[in-house]
Amino acid sequence: MNLILMGLPGAGKGTQAEKVVAKYGVPHISTGDMFRAAIKDGTELGLRAKAFMDEGNLVPDEVTVGIVEERLSKDDCQKGFLLDGFPRTVAQASALEEILKSLDRQLDHVLYIKVPEEDLFKRLTGRWICPECGATYHEIYNPPKVQGKCDKDGSDLTQRKDDKPDTVKKRIDVNMEQTQPLVDFYSEKGYLRNINGQKDIQDVFEDIDQLLKGSH
Ligand code: AP5
Ligand code: ZN
Repeated sequence: MNLILMGLPGAGKGTQAEKVVAKYGVPHISTGDMFRAAIKDGTELGLRAKAFMDEGNLVPDEVTVGIVEERLSKDDCQKGFLLDGFPRTVAQASALEEILKSLDRQLDHVLYIKVPEEDLFKRLTGRWICPECGATYHEIYNPPKVQGKCDKDGSDLTQRKDDKPDTVKKRIDVNMEQTQPLVDFYSEKGYLRNINGQKDIQDVFEDIDQLLKGSH
């Protein structure tokens, strides 16, 4: 199963990716998570990405494409992959086509999770994440069992630096500009599947699951 999860910031890509990966066992490839890990480890990649991310801008295509190409070439991607947050520009989508061609692989679906802009803002500013396992919560929509603690490992939850209101606004604007051309790119190729992301987390997953079950 070779999948892309697309959606504006806060649409629920990471939340749904966690569930798809738990059920279908494909590697979860999130460019955002890879950049955050690189920043934490203080690598050269992290240094390059940080300034863009802190401002809510996109990391340049050549940097992003490079890390995805390297990741998709690893053995565990033989069984499939779930790309979360990549591609985000038409240039990245074209580069991905070339990468997949060289690996003799084909996409199955591009799932586009749609959520209105005003909901995205509320979702991101109320998000809490587990720094240990990456689990995502929301103070209202998906609260942890014990306030401020991860359900899975009890770690203290934190907020992302780019979830401050000003940066959230910028991220949504920057991504909106890139999204329509990308949606057009994948609909013309027949890959795009729209998912209503306004339902409850579990209901959104059931819609995704129905679609995936129907094709595998
Ligand atoms: P990235 O980490 O990918 O951030 P993003 O795209 O802004 O998306 P988010 O992770 O914020 O949102 P999400 O859709 O995963 O939502 P979530 O499930 O957490 O990228 C970060 C940065 O890295 C970018 O800004 C850019 O700088 C750089 N970058 C990454 N990829 C790049 C690329 N390809 N090219 C260039 N630069 C790149 O949900 C959000 C909240 O809502 C949570 O609290 C959750 O609990 C809640 N929630 C989820 N679903 C629901 C629901 N159905 N109902 C109610 N609440 C819900
Ligand atoms: Zn955790």
